[in-house]
Amino acid sequence: MSSFRKQNIVAIDGPAGAGKSTVARLVAKRLKYFYIDTGAMYRALTLKALQEGIDFKDEKALEKVSASTAIQLHKDRNGNLRVFLDGNDVTERIRDKDVNLHISLLSKVKAVRNNMVARQRNMGKKGRVVLEGRDIGTVVFPQARYKFYLDADFHERVKRRYREFILKGKRISLSAVKRDLLRRDRSDKLRKIAPLKKASDAVYIDTTNLGIEEVVEIILNYVKANTHQR
Ligand code: DC
Repeated sequence: MSSFRKQNIVAIDGPAGAGKSTVARLVAKRLKYFYIDTGAMYRALTLKALQEGIDFKDEKALEKVSASTAIQLHKDRNGNLRVFLDGNDVTERIRDKDVNLHISLLSKVKAVRNNMVARQRNMGKKGRVVLEGRDIGTVVFPQARYKFYLDADFHERVKRRYREFILKGKRISLSAVKRDLLRRDRSDKLRKIAPLKKASDAVYIDTTNLGIEEVVEIILNYVKANTHQR
């Protein structure tokens, strides 16, 4: 990969609730890069499998879905990312409980991941992108110049997710959010293929006691400080 490309890729990984999405979106805005939410891609695919009534234990069927589904990410007028599944806007729908419940079963399938990784590499190949997910610095773009791993105390992550649901007017209990995060943490970190882990050359940021803007500044300062050095 050319040094030009390396220079223009920001990889942000970490567990759910560490603040990745908001931070990645704001970093992309400030750098005038395109923001790619890879979790939204796995979510859209999970929704499609649910709509098709696919058995989530049937890996062949999940592979087929991944190969035949159009997923697009577009910025809307306000600069927010909208997710399209086969041409339909599913931005809000992919955050629902049924998607959360099934996503781990889909995202552990090797053929599905290969398909997603190929799409993500293609979307990012021209550079000037911020990609956010679980395996960006380790698998999708291990040669990205800027790599960050965002983490936070488990209870803080639960609180953040809970607040997000409530702000969106969704009815959910704190214990349900806790159960979902525990389950996803476990499957994200323990799955055989592309498990969530910090790339050895990623900058670790504990966001437990930091505000969004503070995390954004840390990342932007790091990018600025390292831009002309190599
Ligand atoms: O970032 P998120 O919480 O929207 O991601 C939802 C799920 O998608 C996450 O629990 C695991 C999966 N995922 C993945 O396996 N690899 C990625 N690069 C991004 C998300």
